[in-house]
Amino acid sequence: MAKSLTIDDLNVYYGDFHAVKDVSLKIAPKSVTAFIGPSGCGKSTVLRTLNRMHEVTPGAYTTGSVKLDELDLYGKGVDPVGVRTTVGMVFQRANPFPTMSIRDNVVAGLKLAGVRDKAKLDEVAEASLRGANLWNEVKDRLDKPGGGLSGGQQQRLCIARAIAVSPQVLLMDEPCSALDPISTLAIEDLIAELKSDYTIVIVTHNMQQAARVSDQTAFFNLAAVGKPGELIEVGATSDVFSNPVRTETEDYISGRFG
Ligand SMILES: Nc1ncnc2c1ncn2[C@@H]1O[C@H](COP(=O)(O)OP(=O)(O)O)[C@@H](O)[C@H]1O
Ligand SMILES: [Mg+2]
Repeated sequence: MAKSLTIDDLNVYYGDFHAVKDVSLKIAPKSVTAFIGPSGCGKSTVLRTLNRMHEVTPGAYTTGSVKLDELDLYGKGVDPVGVRTTVGMVFQRANPFPTMSIRDNVVAGLKLAGVRDKAKLDEVAEASLRGANLWNEVKDRLDKPGGGLSGGQQQRLCIARAIAVSPQVLLMDEPCSALDPISTLAIEDLIAELKSDYTIVIVTHNMQQAARVSDQTAFFNLAAVGKPGELIEVGATSDVFSNPVRTETEDYISGRFG
C-alpha cells in the first residue's frame, strides 16, 4: 500500500524566517527519492513537512500542499498523529528507548495504540525485525535492552519500530551519518529491500549513497546565507548524476562546494 507524495508550491517558515521556498515535487509509490544539497538548505525541513513533524517546533508553519495519493495532509480534520503513523520517520541518531527491551522497542507504537494481545505483539515484532534485517542478530535476546545493540543495529531497530505500525511512506534523515561503513551498507541493502513495500525519502550528505540507493534525486541549495532554500533540480538519479541540467548541481555533485 505504498503511496505517492505530491508536494505543490511548498513554503516553510520558522516564525518570521522563510526557510524553504516554492518546492514542487512528485514522489512515486515504491520508489526511493534522495534529498541532497549543502547544510542548511532545508532538506530536513522539507522532509519533516512530509509527516507534519515540523509542527513540533513552535511557530513553524507551511503554505502550499502535500498530498499522500489524494489526501491533503494539511486538510481540515487531518490528525497529525495519524499522519506520522502513515508516514514514518527514522532519524540521524538512532533513538531506541535504551532501557526498554528490543521487543518492546519494536512494538512501542502498537502498545501506545492500545494493542494488548501478546501473540499479536510478538508476531509484529518478529515480522518487523525480519523486515529490518535484524531478526537473526537479536532473536535470542529480545528481552535485552535496546540500548545494548551496536549503532548499526540500533538504527535497524528504529527502522523495525517505524515499520511495525504499517506505514505507507518512510522518511529517513541521514540515517547512516553516525554509522561505520559496514553498518551503512547494511542500511543501504535494507533500503533496497524496503522499496518493494514502501515509498522512501532519504536525506543524505553522501553523494555515493544517493547514487546507490535512490531512483530520483532532488538537489536543494541556498542562494545566500539567510535566504530560503530552494529545489534547484530534480530528476532520475542517473540523469542528475551523469547529466545535471544546472551548473550548481554539477558543482555540488562534483564536490566543488558543500
Ligand atoms: N527548529 C528550527 N527552528 C528554527 N530554524 C530552523 C529549525 N530547523 C531548521 N532551521 C533553519 O532552517 C534552515 C534549513 O535547515 P535544515 O532543514 O535543517 O537544513 P538541512 O537539513 O538541509 O541542513 C536553516 O537555516 C536552519 O537554521
Ligand atoms: Mg538536515
